Amino acid sequence: MRIEPFLDAIAAAAIHDALDVEAPAILRPTSDATHGDYQVNGVLGLAKRLKQNPRELAAKVAERLAAHEAIASAEVAGPGFVNLRLDDAWLGRVLGDALVDRDRDGVPAVETPETIVVDFSSPNIAKQMHVGHLRSTILGDAISRTLRFVGHEVIGDNHLGDWGTQFGLLIVGMREWGSDEALAQDPIVELERVYKLASARAGEDEAFAASARAELAKLQAGDGENHALWQRFVDVSKSSLNLVYDRLGVTFDEWLGESAYNDRLAGVVELLREKGIAREDEGAICVFFGELEGVDPKLAKQKVPFIVQKGDGAFLYSTTDIATVLYRRDRWEADRAIYVVDKRQAGHFAQLFEVMRLLGVEMKLEHVGFGMVLGDDGKPKKTRDASGKVETLASLLDEAEVRAEAKMLEEPLALDPEVARSLRASVGIGAVKYADLMQNRTSDYTFAWDKLIAFTGNAGPYIQYMHARCCSVLRKSEQDRDALTGPITLEHDAERALARQLLKLADAIHAAAEASNPHYIAGHLYELAARVSVFWEHCPILDVAAPLRESRLALADLSRRQLARGLNLLGIDAPDRM
Ligand code: ARG
Repeated sequence: MRIEPFLDAIAAAAIHDALDVEAPAILRPTSDATHGDYQVNGVLGLAKRLKQNPRELAAKVAERLAAHEAIASAEVAGPGFVNLRLDDAWLGRVLGDALVDRDRDGVPAVETPETIVVDFSSPNIAKQMHVGHLRSTILGDAISRTLRFVGHEVIGDNHLGDWGTQFGLLIVGMREWGSDEALAQDPIVELERVYKLASARAGEDEAFAASARAELAKLQAGDGENHALWQRFVDVSKSSLNLVYDRLGVTFDEWLGESAYNDRLAGVVELLREKGIAREDEGAICVFFGELEGVDPKLAKQKVPFIVQKGDGAFLYSTTDIATVLYRRDRWEADRAIYVVDKRQAGHFAQLFEVMRLLGVEMKLEHVGFGMVLGDDGKPKKTRDASGKVETLASLLDEAEVRAEAKMLEEPLALDPEVARSLRASVGIGAVKYADLMQNRTSDYTFAWDKLIAFTGNAGPYIQYMHARCCSVLRKSEQDRDALTGPITLEHDAERALARQLLKLADAIHAAAEASNPHYIAGHLYELAARVSVFWEHCPILDVAAPLRESRLALADLSRRQLARGLNLLGIDAPDRM
């Protein structure tokens, strides 16, 4: 069950029954557990509206609330809040229900499932996938998993940047400087090297630039030889991208890159002109928002046109994106598309979404933007080291694994080297992912190895470690897990605190799904791990008698399952031994 909506409804009903008015309950978890578990704040505003004494009204509401089976006590506090304490017997029963719900751990699905396209990762071919694309990949994967778990149909689409001006330069550049061997070995590194040489040369050598444009025009017109070259660049790039995706455990349902829409671009421009949304300006075709009726005033004021075709006839990123929305609507009947892309592209998406609205597209479109990854120096993290050597994404993941293994061989874990070796990928890559996902995605964050690979504090390995400890207790108990069916009794404060956190799983998952922000899940896992650790400290499990033993094993099993579930939704492994 979702505890906050549940209590909110009870509180709204209590206000209605006690005072005979409709008013929002405004329910919040309390920040300090000594005051209770949740607080109802709505009576204050209501009293103002009714011009009555808030504490008197709150007392009436509290009386009603206290009568509910879920509530142990309801007390008026401050100027007119009502503090609620949950009933332990009720809480034990609710957790018992979650215990036997092996498929969903008590997390309900949404009432109206939608078909949602998640556009994520989407790197540009012939360029290193940079840290920003790593962020999009990790976030997009976690968001897709979460939306799927709450019951939506999700189509994960890798909208590769596989079309455009860079290919003309690459074709002439590969002829001039390319090495087939290097291309086979580390394609993205080779393509990027050649691309840089070619674009530098094009800057100073007009004949070279003209031949690159000519090759691009040939490619776009369907020239066989250039198409074959382009196909080769794309194929080798995809296979090296796949190496990274495999290590990250990330998959896509579709790989419809920009090139997939090539045939539709002329039609898009045609449609925009027909509907009077775009017009010609100095040879280019543009949308001028300021000239159109009923346009978002902010966009209209900005005066920056949305260019859909350049003077030389070339189509752009924007044109492809329009074609993509139409395709997703028509082909998949998608209700929604979310774009997990660097927040610096906010301007592009605001314009794109407005054009789609002008075209009468009703699909919900949302830019899920994210901040930057910063290095130690507080500047955007570079994917190259001090010597200027390219630090590829793969080498970043290598380093994560090496550091994770070293850490696991240190005190206090001091694992068997064999075990540490087999866990290095789960722990190292999990740590990199967790460090990203624990952030509110819109903020920038600093990438610091020491903090991210740690067995204490808010770090991935700490969460994995607490999960492994739950597994270990359950293993030692030799308890048949399926026979754990409750009831769960809550006697010790550490059990009460743990149970209250366990109750929050569904809210955390749904909050993450609604806001496309996995940090709600990471936050829950961290709070949960901390409470599990206090529970271990104060509540012996294996050497206490039944039924207390079973009740505590049930709490351990629920904790284990929630930690594993949450990690899984974040795309992080949950090893059962560490
Ligand atoms: N390839 C783009 C980039 O690297 C990101 C694409 C995002 N998706 C989209 N439909 N525009 O900046």
